[in-house]
Amino acid sequence: MNHRLELLAAYPFERLARLKAGITPPAGLPHIAMSIGEPRHTPPAFVVDTLRQALGKLDSYPATAGLPETRASCAGWLERRFGLGGKLDADSMVLPVNGTREALFSFVQAVVSTTGPTKPVVAMPNPFYQIYEGAALLAGAEPVFLNTTAESRFQPDLEAVPAETWKRCQVLFLCSPGNPTGAVLSLEFLRHALALAERYDFVIAADECYADLYRDENSPPPSLLQAALASGHSRFERCVVFHSLSKRSSVPGLRSGFVAGDPAIIKPYLLYRTYHGCAMPVPTQLASIAAWNEDAHAAANRALYREKYARVLPILQPVLDVAEPDGGFYLWPDVQRDDEAFTRELFATQNLTILPGSYLARDTHSGNPGKRRVRISLVASVEECVTAAQRIRTFLEK
Ligand SMILES: Cc1ncc(COP(=O)(O)O)c(C=O)c1O
Repeated sequence: MNHRLELLAAYPFERLARLKAGITPPAGLPHIAMSIGEPRHTPPAFVVDTLRQALGKLDSYPATAGLPETRASCAGWLERRFGLGGKLDADSMVLPVNGTREALFSFVQAVVSTTGPTKPVVAMPNPFYQIYEGAALLAGAEPVFLNTTAESRFQPDLEAVPAETWKRCQVLFLCSPGNPTGAVLSLEFLRHALALAERYDFVIAADECYADLYRDENSPPPSLLQAALASGHSRFERCVVFHSLSKRSSVPGLRSGFVAGDPAIIKPYLLYRTYHGCAMPVPTQLASIAAWNEDAHAAANRALYREKYARVLPILQPVLDVAEPDGGFYLWPDVQRDDEAFTRELFATQNLTILPGSYLARDTHSGNPGKRRVRISLVASVEECVTAAQRIRTFLEK
């Protein structure tokens, strides 16, 4: 077996199952899961109908590059959402992927080169989406963690990275809006990261899969692609963004997303994917085209998350240090005590599952930035989220 498999950490949900093992929560309270990152809103009917009507199209192998219409719909959405001045060429700068999870993983395998004299670095925020680290380790790179804390307004601290590390860096992961922090990276921050990428010659992989879930309709989160154009990178040099329908359209089971950016990176990545064998089935592509071409359902989705924040936060804020995030669907409160003990006791007394923050982060010389925080996903129905908030309040008031 590949010896690097031994480097992989237990996935947070495995650790959570161990933490809860042997506990019997009160039988009278139905279980509420607020630990998962899986959207639970009803998938849009027109997407499901399109998929159903396309099921006859299973008689041929799909192309890895996808249908031209699929790439065009992704590019069309990027243009509408971010205003890229027509600079994004759908055929050379966009690739469909089967959800961003597989793409974030395979991208690192395709990009990282281990033939140089020093060990390559893949830098990432801390806490982070667990795939970044696994991808780095399996590619033979050293993961370097950039802590995101309340003090840094949950922005990765780029200044804390020594030049020696930047010199070895081949990929920098950014995540905006962030999971789990919900923080949005500004255009200025992204331009600064891009200037570092230029200076030290690395690629930025911007995970923007929560880009359509944001708080303020008047200020949607910017994309790395906009930062690239603002910095004069007219062909998005060194930039690749990852987008998904899972959160935007509440269709995590469709497994549909895309990557877009620098054609000099997209082209060899397409070659990698051709061998990897991960073309998107045509019915999935047709359903995805319908979803990317329509924005009203994403606005309705946002409105539903906003309603949850509006109902849940007034219940929690008197007892918990918690704020509405700029984007995404997670609360990331400071619970001011051990996050594992908090999670275990909440489950034991209220039959409510959340995720200890330290499971989503790694220890660094300045500690584990997830410690004493928990991730609470507002993916359940409004009523369930309200019930959950009331149970957390009861738990804290005792
Ligand atoms: C930050 C982040 N990136 C990527 C993904 C993967 O999403 P998908 O593979 O459904 O596109 C998730 C899913 O939870 C996530 O939270």
